[in-house]
Amino acid sequence: MKAKEIVTLQRSLLLDTEKLLNQQIEMEGKSSAYYLSMASWCHMMGYENASQYLYVHADEERMHMMKIFHYVNEAGGHAIQPEITGIRHHFNSLREVFELILEHEIKVTKSINSIVDHAFGIKDFATFSFMQWYVTEQREEETLARRALELFDIIGEEGIGLWTIDQELGKLHGKAAAASASKAQ
Ligand SMILES: [Fe+2]
Ligand SMILES: [Fe+2]
Repeated sequence: MKAKEIVTLQRSLLLDTEKLLNQQIEMEGKSSAYYLSMASWCHMMGYENASQYLYVHADEERMHMMKIFHYVNEAGGHAIQPEITGIRHHFNSLREVFELILEHEIKVTKSINSIVDHAFGIKDFATFSFMQWYVTEQREEETLARRALELFDIIGEEGIGLWTIDQELGKLHGKAAAASASKAQ
């Protein structure tokens, strides 16, 4: 069956687009679990602000997952609750946590971009436009992850460095939350 024949009265989503969106659902679900695991490790280690930042981030990732979930079902597809396994629970340092976040967000951006590229290529402008929100979100999340990581180089991890970094992470998070709250109004 040719792809164009799959769009019917019941569904506006092509099967391969649905597959890509389900993969993205899985990626966002995994991001949420990954950040929750990091939040727990930071909490246990006494990095209060870092853990707060990551608990909130874990919730945001679940919201990202749910947005696509509803989009797929509303378009007549079938959103699949992802299997989430293999989440890491232990980290070597606070710096490593933030390096992993940036690495992970870059991977997510690539995945979002490939869906946007696909949607444009097949002229699925509904999905193309739906994904723009994620394009903006990824740009902001990558910037935030880079700023967070820079703190380790600027402040240094010696002496009270890690404590100071944790304080600064709290401020960074506060600013980002304020910016997204004003965007939502
Ligand atoms: Fe996300
Ligand atoms: Fe993210």
